[in-house]
Amino acid sequence: MISSTAAFARLGMRLPVIQGPFGGGLSTVKLAATVSNAGGMGSYGAHLLEPEEIVRVTGAIRAETAGPFVMNLWVNREDPVSPTAAADFDDAVLALGPLYRKHGVEAPSFVKSSPLSFERQAEAILRAGPPVFSFVFGIPAPEILAECRKRGIVTMGAATTLDEALAVEEAGVDLVLATGFEAGGHRPSFLRPAADSLHGTLALVRQVVEAVKIPVVAAGGSADAQGVAAALTLGAGAVQVGTAFLACEESGALPEHKRRLFHAAARHTRLSDRVSGRLARFIVSPMLDALDASPAVHLGYPLQGELTRPLKANGDGLFYAGQGAPMLRHHRAADLVRALAGPAGTCMVS
Ligand SMILES: Cc1cc2nc3c(=O)[nH]c(=O)nc-3n(C[C@H](O)[C@H](O)[C@H](O)COP(=O)(O)O)c2cc1C
Repeated sequence: MISSTAAFARLGMRLPVIQGPFGGGLSTVKLAATVSNAGGMGSYGAHLLEPEEIVRVTGAIRAETAGPFVMNLWVNREDPVSPTAAADFDDAVLALGPLYRKHGVEAPSFVKSSPLSFERQAEAILRAGPPVFSFVFGIPAPEILAECRKRGIVTMGAATTLDEALAVEEAGVDLVLATGFEAGGHRPSFLRPAADSLHGTLALVRQVVEAVKIPVVAAGGSADAQGVAAALTLGAGAVQVGTAFLACEESGALPEHKRRLFHAAARHTRLSDRVSGRLARFIVSPMLDALDASPAVHLGYPLQGELTRPLKANGDGLFYAGQGAPMLRHHRAADLVRALAGPAGTCMVS
């Protein structure tokens, strides 16, 4: 067991700032490498990547930075599929018909998903050997964690409750990410339903720091130096920031998404499970209101996402954002890392 700041300094971080991973094409090699080169630690969300692509991306980041970086996966990527899924899908398409027509998009057809295997993805992580492997929605099998240890890959598991943090520690994971409901992206709960695991960052981080011996990373709602300093005061050794990096020019988000993150509309966000099938935070919009009010059957992840794919592609009203969006000021990742570290540059290594 090593002390909190020492753990991050040993990783090679000069500043206690981690750029959170983004799934679904929103992470880029350039963003991760830029953050790592600026003294923080960049991440890449790989849960939608085939194993060979995971190996390729890991190599591409390594080629762009000598600093530490994180590759990230979802342990649990598929909700149970109902035997009536195809009929439920058609019913839901009918119920959402007015919304598709209103936005001028074609209604989707049912496609049976062919899930990516987490085990094969994790095997690719082991082969690629990134400095850090982070995961959400559960804890990998003991054999995978043991293999990470053998290969010197530091592991980090996300927790939305104190019980999840204790489970992460108990499994022998190196670092725990305490993520409050302010955060952008999905709520990665795995012991209780996400809607029943809505702890704020302030309460969660402090509880976790008091209860576990492994180093804690705080996530959710930090978007400036004061937010980072507050999380460090609570006892976190580093802070993971997502929304503010998503808005930077190096991220893979669409220009319209970035524009909305800086817009006054981002002052109002809401958790909804109607976009992807799992609870995630979005900028409130008429389209989100219509989806949340729809009587359409809830299909679970990832099938629900097929229902909303045409609406997302329309670019009109389904944008991920955390509650920190109104604090966004920076458009370039290196500037953001420096700003988050504060005027004195909150140094981890003396
Ligand atoms: C669009 C989006 C996608 C995300 N995808 C992932 C992901 O695939 N895996 C993950 O561990 N975290 C994911 N996150 C969470 C972030 O990495 C980070 O923990 C979170 O955004 C921090 O809270 P903040 O947005 O308040 O800064 C995502 C966040 C956003 C905004």
